[in-house]
Amino acid sequence: MTRKKKRRLRIRLPKLNLNTSADSSGTAPVRKHKRKRRRFRLKKEAYMVLAGIAAILALIFIPRAIDNSNLKKLGYDKATIKNIREQKLTKTILSNEWYSNYLAQAINDGTLNKDYTELYTVVTPQRGLNDTDFLLYGRLKDKGYSDKQLLNLYNKLRFTDLTPLLVFDYQSDESAYIADAQAHMSDNDADHFELDGTYYTPYENTRAVDDPSSLSMLVNKTYYLDESYVPDNLTGLSNLYAAPDRELAGVAAEALAEWCNGGRANDVYFYATSAYRPYEAQEELYEGYIKSMGQEQTDAVSARPGFSEHQTGYTVDLAATHEDNAADFSETRAYRWANEHCWEYGWLLRYPDGKTSITNYEYESWHYRYVGKDVAAAVHASGLTFDEFYMLYLKPWDNESNMPSEAILASTDYTKLIPAQTAPEEETVPETTGEPESPAPAETEAPEETEVPEASASPETNG
Ligand code: DAL
Ligand code: ZN
Repeated sequence: MTRKKKRRLRIRLPKLNLNTSADSSGTAPVRKHKRKRRRFRLKKEAYMVLAGIAAILALIFIPRAIDNSNLKKLGYDKATIKNIREQKLTKTILSNEWYSNYLAQAINDGTLNKDYTELYTVVTPQRGLNDTDFLLYGRLKDKGYSDKQLLNLYNKLRFTDLTPLLVFDYQSDESAYIADAQAHMSDNDADHFELDGTYYTPYENTRAVDDPSSLSMLVNKTYYLDESYVPDNLTGLSNLYAAPDRELAGVAAEALAEWCNGGRANDVYFYATSAYRPYEAQEELYEGYIKSMGQEQTDAVSARPGFSEHQTGYTVDLAATHEDNAADFSETRAYRWANEHCWEYGWLLRYPDGKTSITNYEYESWHYRYVGKDVAAAVHASGLTFDEFYMLYLKPWDNESNMPSEAILASTDYTKLIPAQTAPEEETVPETTGEPESPAPAETEAPEETEVPEASASPETNG
């Protein structure tokens, strides 16, 4: 080995020795220290994880406990709170502080419709809410009512007190209407509706009929037909079923024959004294009434030209034959049978007794409108006037944003109201041709448009 190399070795050795000595003599404490540090680090990490979990649990459970306590303060019991949570209603209910027995009930039985949660807070379990109430809610909104007004209306009134509002003018002060309807609540029901005040202004805010080609068009003191409107397929009526020279739209002519024959099979006889009336004929009739009885009484019994259902070609005024005392149609057997069964043949009594405040016409036991069997059966089942029924189920929406959900629209489709068996028994309808013994009386026996109605209101003299 050269000296140079030895020196290099000597120089390096102490360094190596230092390391070696550290390894050999200082091994135990360093390792121990390191292990301690690692253990400490592990412990620290575990604590941190635990603290994290605890924090997460606290984040979950503390607000939850606070929410539960707040829901409890609102009045909900434990089981309802669990259901509120499951139905993800906690935030909505707490932020609005909503509580009612009915809301709790609907949450618990799973029937709550979340689109109308607030509505559940204003009605009692006895009144309850169903899909038709939600449809009505949308219709009343479409008429201009605000949510606040609707909550007030639903809080105080029943379904049968609310549907007339569809026909009436928009009431900016709904509380006056509420007070009036509440005052009549014990007398008013599905068959009878009266009020002290007036909530409808006839012939104001008038609109053209929505669809004059529709069998179920609404014609009343709001919806009118143009002067030029003439029904398609006008058909002369057989003198078995009508006074001479009367006409109806084809489908209504057939339906009248079917109805009259249904009556004959049950030994009751009635016929149309009046049917289609052109605009000009209604004008003449109305003017005649004005001259004899003045504006107010005329408007109670006769439509202004353009506003009469007779112009649709789907309307008749009936009279009875083969009966004594047939002058007042409402007192005849024919009326009782025709009125009970009219809907089975597609006809409706348009101006019923007890509904003058809605129809705006005095009771007309003789005036029937053909709307087709489905609609007639549904109107009959609904217990509504045709005016209310149309506005609730058939009217095109003014603003589609007021429409309820597709699910509500589907479940409240009017066809759902039709009873399973609506068609009249075919075999009860006798042959109609060649019955010379039972034709309807001639025009001379059944005068109509030219005469002014008497106060007794017989069909022969009314419109
Ligand atoms: N009498 C009914 C209302 C009409 O004139 O059409
Ligand atoms: Zn009539």
